[in-house]
Amino acid sequence: MQVRSTLSRMTPYVAGERRTDAIKLSSNENPLGPSPAALEAVRRALDESHIYPDGALRGLRTAIAGHMGTEPEMIIPGNGSDEVLTMIAGTYLNPGERVLIGEHTFSQYAFAARLLDAEIERVPMPELRLTPEAILRAVAARRDPPRAIFICTPNNPTGIAFTRAELRHVLDNVSERTLVVVDHAYQEYATSPEVADATAMVNRYPNLIVLRTFSKIYGLAANRIGYGVATAERIAELERVRLPFNVNGLGQAAAIGALGDDGFVVRSLETNRRGDERMRALLAELGYQPLPSEANFLCFPVGGDARAAAEIIASHGATVRALGSFGLPGHLRVTIGTDQQIDVLERGLRALAAQIPPDARSDHGARTGAANSGVTAGSQQ
Ligand SMILES: Cc1ncc(COP(=O)(O)O)c(C=O)c1O
Repeated sequence: MQVRSTLSRMTPYVAGERRTDAIKLSSNENPLGPSPAALEAVRRALDESHIYPDGALRGLRTAIAGHMGTEPEMIIPGNGSDEVLTMIAGTYLNPGERVLIGEHTFSQYAFAARLLDAEIERVPMPELRLTPEAILRAVAARRDPPRAIFICTPNNPTGIAFTRAELRHVLDNVSERTLVVVDHAYQEYATSPEVADATAMVNRYPNLIVLRTFSKIYGLAANRIGYGVATAERIAELERVRLPFNVNGLGQAAAIGALGDDGFVVRSLETNRRGDERMRALLAELGYQPLPSEANFLCFPVGGDARAAAEIIASHGATVRALGSFGLPGHLRVTIGTDQQIDVLERGLRALAAQIPPDARSDHGARTGAANSGVTAGSQQ
């Protein structure tokens, strides 16, 4: 059967590697597991498995809005924030319309845009940073404003975040007809006071939609719950494409339970802070230079082929992410783990440094292939 022509340009999602004989530090999950309060809520919800869940998602929206100090009408939950992305594409993108996406970022923006046959333009990221200047240059390169701009902050896979001033600079200088989608999947981990909080800006910018998730800080990746935050008008538009019962009952219960568990968030942040410190010290000792991450992972060049590097580390008991599919074939991304997990990782990193000596150069921009080209209509995920 002939499939739609756009599908031939789409490549399947590359997930972080999972092995039965290794700990998983390849998908930026919460190393503490799920929030115990969320688990308890899921156990209770299991008894109602024969009844359709709340299709209007009233309880979940109210809980999220209460937590954030906003209105339930400004929230749209999804089956992971991934689903909210495809809802955004299905609501706003017409075939051929231009969308701007950073050169090295999460693959699902391109997936959602391609699904709707939009035209993808990659914004260059010299020194692996997406800057307002590069975005605005790409915007101005054509007479018609782009339909949408996707900004991941803190960015997966670099961990680098937009400052408040940078995000405002973009929002103040693009057309109101251009949708700005800010993905805050890792926002809770950010520690610098300068880091942009887009959620606080949605009332001021009606063209802004912010994505959040329960998959990271709340440890609920398998339950698939994320949400969008925007003005009530945008949310009502997105509602038109939302499937009935898009968030399952266990996911709804888990998320509501997790929102009441502030202690778990505090413990998760403390684990991340300690792990970040230890992993940075270890990487520095071995000669690696991680980027300045505001997230729960570190990204660094290995001085050789990252796939071979990941294999060496996996053979010592930890899977990590080689970043070829992000256009960075010489970089690894490693989730910040617990102390015991970092013990395992340390063995792998020491073996790696012995077999493939770290790149002595400090030039994070040094890399190969399409990653160095200018604004392109590339196909990389
Ligand atoms: C930047 C970013 N956004 C979104 C997601 C996916 O979130 P969810 O599990 O809510 O679909 C991820 C998952 O790794 C991510 O890295």
